[in-house]
Amino acid sequence: MTAARTQEALYADIDLELSWSERELPQVERTKHVHSLHPYLGKFIPQVVEVFLRRYFRPGGCIFDPFVGSGTTLVEANVFGASAIGCDISAFNCLLSRVKTQAYSLAALELSLKGALETARERQASSSGDSSEWLRRWFAPQALKELLAYRSALEDLDEPAASVGKIVLSRSARSARLTTHFDLDFPRTAITEPYFCFKHKRTCRPVEEAFKFLKRYTADTIRRLRQFSAIRKDAEVVVLHTDARTTDLLVKPSGIVTSPPYPGLIDYHEQHRYAYELLGLEERAVDEIGPGSRGHGRAAQADYVSGMVAVFENARRFLDEGAPVIIVVNDSRNLYDDILDRAGLTLSERLTRHVNRRTGRRAGEFYEEVLVCTVASDQASR
Ligand SMILES: C[S@@+](CC[C@H](N)C(=O)[O-])C[C@H]1O[C@@H](n2cnc3c(N)ncnc32)[C@H](O)[C@@H]1O
Repeated sequence: MTAARTQEALYADIDLELSWSERELPQVERTKHVHSLHPYLGKFIPQVVEVFLRRYFRPGGCIFDPFVGSGTTLVEANVFGASAIGCDISAFNCLLSRVKTQAYSLAALELSLKGALETARERQASSSGDSSEWLRRWFAPQALKELLAYRSALEDLDEPAASVGKIVLSRSARSARLTTHFDLDFPRTAITEPYFCFKHKRTCRPVEEAFKFLKRYTADTIRRLRQFSAIRKDAEVVVLHTDARTTDLLVKPSGIVTSPPYPGLIDYHEQHRYAYELLGLEERAVDEIGPGSRGHGRAAQADYVSGMVAVFENARRFLDEGAPVIIVVNDSRNLYDDILDRAGLTLSERLTRHVNRRTGRRAGEFYEEVLVCTVASDQASR
């Protein structure tokens, strides 16, 4: 049986409007324009957001995402013509989402970023910026020199170019780490010797330099921002570096489209450790709900449930009765009936979608649920 037929058979049991085979929705579409400005583990695909924006929202409205992540909801809300507000506990995710959604003078941006590359080349011979023990362990000496020289060049740039440069730096650092090519998501130890590469089916060598990535990602970033600027609407996007359990919103959103963390799956700060080490961003890992490092034992699940209840109770303060709340989760532990009930949300539909995964070496089929809820009438904000 071919892979395509297997997928088609699989789709007989699930929501077809939300599940696409590789042929119907190729990777290039799932990672279009700014959605692939930087790798991010745990995002949902833009097409899922598009479906729910069309079904439950109107252009001119305002969409709230309490778990912004890499900014998928904010980007799609903007293309849809709605304003968007979101928060995230990870400073890196906030930086990335702001860079994706901002308006730019593209010619000036391109000039600044190319200038930063030149400055970094000039400075790298004498580059000896601050570097942590972590950076020295995960980068070859030359690669680290080049990254630090580029970081120093970014200090000469004004905003918004400096922030865009930080995303180029972080993406380049990710590629330049001393990891194998096939384990960029969860590397455990730095690789300093040639190794057999499962991805390329040959012996590969650890990366020794970073400039080729800085150059490549500068061009790719400008290209992606240009593509997005052609469809970007003039609707406001606000990104807050706050805890979703307590965040304040100065606007009244029309509803929510979000994908929360799942208990015990991902450490969101840790997945971008290189960015925190290089950029000196504020760390709030202790405030992550359901971090991977806590596992999914009983105590961790109970904390996760009370964390999620707090998030949706807090969000409800800003929402009207009947407002749509769309939550994309993998509720394999059946936690959400309790969460929604305690948070004052009414579940109208539970949809299942098949997730088409092509990256990483994770095996097995993966499903997501979409919980379509509304703010319950007796619980709505006053
Ligand atoms: C599944 S990801 C969201 C992915 C997003 N939908 C996207 O497409 O990129 C969950 C996010 O929740 C954030 N998060 C975890 N605990 C949080 C908290 N207490 N307040 C705000 N955000 C939090 C994590 O940092 C992570 O970015």
